[in-house]
Amino acid sequence: MDSIAYVNGDFVLLSEAKVSVLDRGFLFADGIYEVSAVLGGKLIDNDSHLARLERSVGEIKLPLPETVARIKEIQHELISRNQLKDGLVYIQVTRGADVGRDFAFPKGVKPTLMMFTSVKDIVNAASAKTGIGVITVPDIRWTRRDIKSVALLAQVLAKQAAAEAGAGEAWMIEDGGKVTEGGSSSAFILTKDDVLVTRENSSAILPGCTRKAVVKLAEERQLRVEERAFTIEEALRAKEAFITSASSFVQPVVKIDGELVADGKPGPVALRLREIYIEFARATGT
Ligand code: PDD
Repeated sequence: MDSIAYVNGDFVLLSEAKVSVLDRGFLFADGIYEVSAVLGGKLIDNDSHLARLERSVGEIKLPLPETVARIKEIQHELISRNQLKDGLVYIQVTRGADVGRDFAFPKGVKPTLMMFTSVKDIVNAASAKTGIGVITVPDIRWTRRDIKSVALLAQVLAKQAAAEAGAGEAWMIEDGGKVTEGGSSSAFILTKDDVLVTRENSSAILPGCTRKAVVKLAEERQLRVEERAFTIEEALRAKEAFITSASSFVQPVVKIDGELVADGKPGPVALRLREIYIEFARATGT
């Protein structure tokens, strides 16, 4: 079904939304994106996503063509025009369309701002009950993964490999088997000593908004959290594993490269954190 999208000031049908072939997002992947979840018509943890958008564009010296307040208004207008209850709002900002293909920043070119919504019932996803399998792939990305760049080819290939293997996500690894993160999610394990482990924020990973909220919610409930890298071997010895993202909230991981994590069933802590996150989302959505 078609929906309404926003492109550079206009609300248009998504199927008819257009940008120039000279857009630097298309030519150079010179752009930034964000994804916020929508639950019951409300944006979840959206200030966190918009703060990361501002940080990412700042890191690549890309001025936002609209204020954050206006971007928020457009998000709400899209939700309302599309009567969106549960799903996602996508935002993409690129350095705009120049008259040719020069690598250096063009002068006097207005950045492109494009936004659209999609329907997704994240709360009732069947995979949340069964858990997902992940495969591991080498992390072949650049070294500024803290920037939410639209240059996603490494993740496209990783997630395609996961799909071909019948897995729900790819965990990217480097430095002797250390997990950086998922193709589009943050990675967690629960050790045998009941410590929740997730990699510390640095330029090696995207600072996940859901990760941040889940760490806070877990700590508030007296769960011990260690922010450090973990290896696949450690994950395979763990009691539980899971991923977090705006598009999945908290999803149990029950298999890594075909080997079961614990008994191969979603762990109680992951399932509880999922419930807690959904409660938090319902209580704080805007
Ligand atoms: N991806 N790590 C990577 C590489 C990601 O692409 C994402 C999100 C995350 C989780 O971040 P957050 O909790 O803020 O959604 C971690 C989005 C959902 C996407 O690309 O569709």
